[in-house]
Amino acid sequence: MNSKTEAFLTPESVKAWAEVGLSHPHESAILHVLGEATYTDDIPEAQGTLHAALGLSAKAHARITALNLAPVLAAPGVVAAYTWRDIPGTNDCGPIIHDDPILAEEKVEYVGQPIFIVVADSHDNARRAARKAEVQYEELPAILTPEAARDAQSFVVPPMRLARGDAQQALEASPHRVKGKLHVGGQEQFYLEGQISYAIPKEGDGMLVLCSTQHPTEMQHVVAHALHRPSHAIVVECRRMGGGFGGKESQSALWAACAAISAAKLKRPVKLRADRDDDMMVTGKRHCFYYEYEIGHDADGRITAAKVEMVSRAGFSADLSAPVATRAICHFDNTYYLSDVDIRAMAGKTNTQSNTAFRGFGGPQGAIAIEYIVDEIARNLGKDALDVRKINFYGRNDEEGRNVTQYGQKVVDNVIHELVAQLEHDSAYRTRRAAIDEFNARSAVLKKGLALTPVKFGIAFNVTHFNQAGALVHIYTDGSVLVNHGGTEMGQGINTKVCQVVAHELGIPLHRVRISATDTSKVANTSATAASTGADLNGKAAQDAAHTLRQRLANFAAAQFGCELAEVQFADGVVYGGPGAVMSFAGLVQKAYLARIQLWSDGFYATPGLSWDPKTMSGNPFGYFAYGASVSEVIVDTLTGEWKLLEANALYDAGNSLNPAIDIGQVEGAFIQGMGWLTTEELWWNAGGKLMTHAPSTYKIPAISDCPRNLEVKLFKNRNSFDSIHRSKAVGEPPLLLPFSVFLAIRDAVSAVGGHRHNPPLRAPATCESILDAIDAVRAAAD
Ligand code: MTE
Ligand code: MOS
Repeated sequence: MNSKTEAFLTPESVKAWAEVGLSHPHESAILHVLGEATYTDDIPEAQGTLHAALGLSAKAHARITALNLAPVLAAPGVVAAYTWRDIPGTNDCGPIIHDDPILAEEKVEYVGQPIFIVVADSHDNARRAARKAEVQYEELPAILTPEAARDAQSFVVPPMRLARGDAQQALEASPHRVKGKLHVGGQEQFYLEGQISYAIPKEGDGMLVLCSTQHPTEMQHVVAHALHRPSHAIVVECRRMGGGFGGKESQSALWAACAAISAAKLKRPVKLRADRDDDMMVTGKRHCFYYEYEIGHDADGRITAAKVEMVSRAGFSADLSAPVATRAICHFDNTYYLSDVDIRAMAGKTNTQSNTAFRGFGGPQGAIAIEYIVDEIARNLGKDALDVRKINFYGRNDEEGRNVTQYGQKVVDNVIHELVAQLEHDSAYRTRRAAIDEFNARSAVLKKGLALTPVKFGIAFNVTHFNQAGALVHIYTDGSVLVNHGGTEMGQGINTKVCQVVAHELGIPLHRVRISATDTSKVANTSATAASTGADLNGKAAQDAAHTLRQRLANFAAAQFGCELAEVQFADGVVYGGPGAVMSFAGLVQKAYLARIQLWSDGFYATPGLSWDPKTMSGNPFGYFAYGASVSEVIVDTLTGEWKLLEANALYDAGNSLNPAIDIGQVEGAFIQGMGWLTTEELWWNAGGKLMTHAPSTYKIPAISDCPRNLEVKLFKNRNSFDSIHRSKAVGEPPLLLPFSVFLAIRDAVSAVGGHRHNPPLRAPATCESILDAIDAVRAAAD
């Protein structure tokens, strides 16, 4: 019998019991703080383990005319060196388009591109040896910026276009127009744990790859192709990542492939762990975007036409640039109804790292443009930007007409009106606006700024078939439960949430449920843990498996108790079959085992109702939308360009949150990470195409001192109208768009320099230089 007594168990108390919706700590929290959580590099090494490093290109675009690896091979501790010619199978790690060599062949296409692998007895020896290669290059012209790529019509995938209505005609008919340009920089994922793979040969042609990856199945495919072996020979395992943020969705493949190729050649375990500088030099980042826009609006600020052209810096290969561009197009509307639109997106082929997924996956890049534009409309009309935002919101759900997105999906769950009203009230937006105006009137050098920005973010993979997941749930005879699912843990708390779902379904306390490492030999053909769908998809799959088990056990319990099936309840480790009929969960499981009832089950989920036609760029790509808004107040020193976020309030719609503490943590983290993207994190390539900001010494991510004294995050009370897992909403990526308010508050402060009469041309990241340039431009316009 469990701790609960019979007297304590009333039908009401049993019904009220829950394991979802509670702020349980992260499943690994204690291990994290003790330093005992096992990351890939912490796994005890097998005897005979060797270490690999990569030899990188020094040129942005060149033909390799000679490659002498003799000095590498002669270096201390070196066991072998491999070029593309040594790859047994396909020299490719491109996730969609096969234009992404694992090792460069005759040509290099960016500074940092891997040319060879060196394997040595230690990590340091391998790294030292990698520098000793003699490479001769014949240089070719390099394209480095999105604008240059567009001018040269150099793209990694064909340009995309989404048009609705007649934007040109609507523009000509518009009483007011706004025309401009915007630069928004990229962003390094800066996961704390760098890229790493550890490949261990198994008997026959087997290969186990322990890999820090968001996408074990794709790692399995890439390794299988590179080794020319069937998928069933390759097992990829990941217990957890020290952060992924999109950077380990496709870009863990290079490291997995190089470790596996070396291990296969040498028949010895090989570990490849990227040093931070190498990681930043080799791997892709968030795409920087360049926009040219023309918008028409009426005297109230209502948008009547929108034309925008966006070009991203895709880098040398396609990687995920096409889906990133698609998501940018699908998020250009943000929370606004756009009747006549013409959106073009191009993925510029440049001689730089191949850019990839990063939290929001193009969504932030789509939405920042419209927010920047709405800000300009407001300034041109002398209105508060919040009022212009509100007037452009999608209609309320019962309001026909203004509720269809540019891609044809009807917005049926709009809560942005209520959510923004709540935040406006709770943050005392109007009072603070007045106080800031007063402050700025008195302060010549220091200027304050304020902005409230909304977010709407579509949840699901645009590519419909990725929206599936599987899980396995085992109940052991002592009543303890082990869960395995296809999602990966990168700190976001998916495992905690999935365990909560399983515990809830089986009516057992959370501590009775344990999660095991994600493993391609347990759940097959998984999707990447990405697009914020991890908990949604895998939570449903695990619930499905647990539900099957609960049904089996409930039928058995009904027979044991001699009660109706409907009377059987599971709660807090106890099974209840009506008055006087009580058994512990473990006791029931014991009996069920003896009765030869299957105590494990698989589960599966495929999100219903999704569709997407990439040709017409229309359909119902998203299951639902997540909403949010934030208010930021900043102070800017107009002499130095330094600034500080004084206070921020964020309100986020996590639906019926599965775990409020984890969700609030996700919002806080995403807010600060998004703030870093738009303010301090600057990627800078020199004229030769070498990334010069390739370490924390030159690349500035936010520190604790950059966080505001008061970052108030609240969850908006809402229930997902879509039948998601316990009616919760995804939280992984959408909050990254919340700190648009930081960027636009800085712009507001800069605009105060010119009495809010001129639009500051503020580029992101709003570094001190960018802010000073914008101030200069405002002063020049005011003269
Ligand atoms: N949170 C932490 N701590 N670390 C991460 O790497 N990645 C983000 C987000 N939150 C990330 C994170 C990204 S890019 C995505 S897509 C989601 O988590 C994925 O997890 P989910 O779908 O389970 O929310
Ligand atoms: Mo997240 S960028 O979809 O991995």
